[in-house]
Parts: sequence; structure tokens; C-alpha cells
Amino acid sequence: MIVLERIAAVRARCDEAVRAGKSVGLVPTMGYLHEGHRTLMRAARAENDLVVVTLFVNPTQFGPNEDLASYPRDPEGDARVVTEEGVDVLFAPSVAEMYPRPGLTHVTVDEVTDGLCGASRPHHFVGVATVVTKLFSIVGPCTAYFGKKDFQQLVVVRRLVEDLNLPITVVGVSTVREPDGLALSSRNAYLAPDDRPAATVLYRALECAIATVKEGERDPVAVRAAAVTLVEREPLAQFDYLEVRRADDLAEVEHLDDGVEHVIALAVFLNTTRLIDNATFTVDGAAVHYDLPGRSPVAQEH
Ligand code: PAF
Repeated sequence: MIVLERIAAVRARCDEAVRAGKSVGLVPTMGYLHEGHRTLMRAARAENDLVVVTLFVNPTQFGPNEDLASYPRDPEGDARVVTEEGVDVLFAPSVAEMYPRPGLTHVTVDEVTDGLCGASRPHHFVGVATVVTKLFSIVGPCTAYFGKKDFQQLVVVRRLVEDLNLPITVVGVSTVREPDGLALSSRNAYLAPDDRPAATVLYRALECAIATVKEGERDPVAVRAAAVTLVEREPLAQFDYLEVRRADDLAEVEHLDDGVEHVIALAVFLNTTRLIDNATFTVDGAAVHYDLPGRSPVAQEH
């Protein structure tokens, strides 16, 4: 594994691999790597000749009152993780390398960024779309792996790749969860021990929504209401949003039609920690296909 800090060096490595007919796998991250990131790296390792992980806490995707300064960092631990996962290149640029002067060019993806996290984090997706486009431009033709936990981000990235005809294949990788259902996130590090049990409220709300659909409910307003009630019953949780949308383009829906993939996505504050989660599901007659794994029996007993 080599660590590269300069754009030119990463570009040279990737160009050389592509010229030699090799495939490149890219895993963009902001570091503080956990099992969810490891899953992305394993998928990239299994499918590509050259695997590049990027580690860059991108300042432009944080709002003025957000957690840029306190975002958890562990460069030594991250280097250990990428080495253990057989990654070839860790690209860890400085802010000056990525933004030598304030950028005048921004990538804005309309509509799919309007609601959900885009509503409470108005500039977030411009920052994400811009930095991801820059990373795609640096690495070149590749398969890029993103976690489904950040579902709206995945939709945004898929859409910008399609709209800008970028030579990138985007792969969404399933969310990794704690045994009690909490989705892994670098921001879980902020949770105070007293708040940790309440953090399962996101998973419980998703379980409730899926159960409501399995019982036969096809009105997204009713499905949402059931899950919202569950969140509101958790005294430590402060509700940000909970929406049922079409998965492909995050459009609002009036009915859960057969054969259409939907997503139920939510964001909840536990004190100052904002957590997000989601589950996708497709109705197929009386059956419902969904991607929310059950909790382990031990966790369910608590
Ligand atoms: O999901 C993340 O960690 C970031 O949003 C990403 C995709 C690395 C862009 O900074």
C-alpha cells in the first residue's frame, strides 16, 4: 500500500493501470474508517486490479454550523485498515492540494437534492457532488463504491455520472449494522453512552415502516405516520425528517405501486448528533422485498 498526497501522482498511477488494461476500483471516504468502509474496500478489492481509497474530510460539504472542526480523525488507524484490506493506493490530499484557491466551479444536481438531507443541509450536496466529480476526474475511468446508508448521496452521484457522461460505474453497497440495528457511521463516535440505546430508534422506525407495508398498507402517508409516531415516542430523539420516496429519483409518491423500488429515509438528532438511515423496499402483490436485516437475537432481548 502506498500513500499519495499529490493529485498528479494518483492520476499517473491510475492512467498507467488503465493503459495496461487493468481495472480501477475507487472508494471515496472521509476517513475514521469502520466496518462499513471495509465492506466497500472488500467489494472494490474483489472486482478490480488497482484499488484506490481516498481520505479527505471535504470542507465544502459542511455547513458553517456543522461538525467540520470536530469530525473524527484517525490517520494512523485508517492507514492500518486500508493495509489490512489489501488496498493499493491511499490518496490523502491536503485541503490546499484539493482546493488551491476557492473554487468558482460547482456541481449542482437539481431535484434529487431538494428534500431529505438537502432540506436541513442546504449546501451539502453541492460540496459532495463537486468533490466527487473532482475525485472522478483525478482517478479516471473506474468503478466507484458508495455505501447505501447515505442513500441520497448515492442517488446524487449516480445522477451526476449519468448527466455528465462520466466513465464511472457506480456501485451501491449495503449498510453494515451493529447487532442492535444501528447503522455504522463515523458520527456514532459522538454518541454519549446514555444516548446510545436510544440511537436504535432509527432502525426501529424502519422496522415499523416495513412491518406496516407488510401488513398491506400501500398509502405512503400512513406508512410514514406509523414510523414518525415511533420516533416521537423516544424521549431522547429529536426528529429531523422521515420520508417515503421512489428510490430511483427520490420523487414523492402517492401510492406504493407494485414493482417500483421505494426508500424510507430518516434523520434524527440525539442531543447534537445527527444520524441518518434508510431501507429500500419493493411491493410485489402481497409480498414485500426489503433490505433491512433482522437484529441479532441477543440484541432483540434488550
Ligand atoms: O460519504 C462520504 O464519506 C463523503 O460524502 C464522500 C463521498 C467521501 C465525499 O466527501
